[in-house]
Amino acid sequence: MFGESLHKPVWRAVAGAELTPIAERAFPALQASRDWARYRSAVDPLYGRWLAKNGLTRSAFGPQDLESNQTARATLANSVGEEKFVFIEPWVVQMLYPVRLLNLHKSEGLRILDLGSGGGHFSLLCEVLGHDVLGVDLRNETFDTICEALGVRRRIATVTPTYFDEKPERYDLILGLRVNFNIVGESVWEEEAWTHFVETAVRRLTPAGRLALLLNTQPNKTGPTVKNRRLPAHLLRLGFSLHAIDNSPFMVRRNAS
Ligand SMILES: C[S@@+](CC[C@H](N)C(=O)[O-])C[C@H]1O[C@@H](n2cnc3c(N)ncnc32)[C@H](O)[C@@H]1O
Repeated sequence: MFGESLHKPVWRAVAGAELTPIAERAFPALQASRDWARYRSAVDPLYGRWLAKNGLTRSAFGPQDLESNQTARATLANSVGEEKFVFIEPWVVQMLYPVRLLNLHKSEGLRILDLGSGGGHFSLLCEVLGHDVLGVDLRNETFDTICEALGVRRRIATVTPTYFDEKPERYDLILGLRVNFNIVGESVWEEEAWTHFVETAVRRLTPAGRLALLLNTQPNKTGPTVKNRRLPAHLLRLGFSLHAIDNSPFMVRRNAS
C-alpha cells in the first residue's frame, strides 16, 4: 500500500503481460529510491481521513488486502476522497500505460513537464525511469502532502491558455493526464483558447519533443469537451494523433519544427 508491496508482484495482476516488463524495471527502482516508513508517517493523517470518509477501519483495509483481494482494489477505486491517492501501486500502475505509449521506458534523461500532476504518480514513475520531471498543479493540501512525502518536484501554478507565453524552458515532453485545466465553473476552454495553448506549448518543445494530453470526460460542461467530441475533433485539426487509454482519448502531437 505505502511501499511495502512494491517489491512483490502485486501489480502483475493489474498490469498484464504488456506492462509487466516496464513494471519489473520501475518498481524495484521505486522501492529502493524512497524511505517508505517516512512516507507512511507523513501521509498517515490522510489515510485516516480516507478510512473515515469510507466507513472503514484500519483493520478492515490494509496493504495485504490490496495485494490479494480484487474487492479491496475495487473498494479503493470506487472510494470517496482524493486521499485515496496515498496508495502508491494502483496509481503508478495506471501510469504505465502512457509510459508505454510514449516509449518513455526506452529512453532516459528526457525533460518532462507533468501538467496537473495530482498525486505525482506519473512524475514519480518517470523519475525512477531516469527522466528529469517537473510537476505543475494548483495548491491542494492532499496532493501537497503526498508529493512532498514522495519527494516529487513540483511548481504550484495555475495552467491557463497563456501559460506558455512567457516560459523560456524547453521540454522533450509536455503532458497533461486526465486534466482539462478548468475544475471550476460550468464552461471549459473554448477552441481558441486550446489553439493558443497548443501553439505556444509546442514552441517550448525540443525538436523531437511531444505534447500529450489524456482527456478527461466532463459530462456537465459547455464548450469543447470529450463528451460532445468537440475537443478531440479540434485537437485532431491542430495536428494531434489519437490513441486511447482506458477508453479515454489520448492525444499526442509532435513538434512540427
Ligand atoms: C483528475 S486529476 C489528474 C491527476 C494526475 N494527472 C493523474 O492522472 O492522476 C486533475 C489534476 O489537475 C489539476 N488541475 C486542474 N486544473 C488545473 C489548472 N488550471 N492548473 C494546474 N492544475 C490543474 C488538479 O488540481 C488535479 O490535480
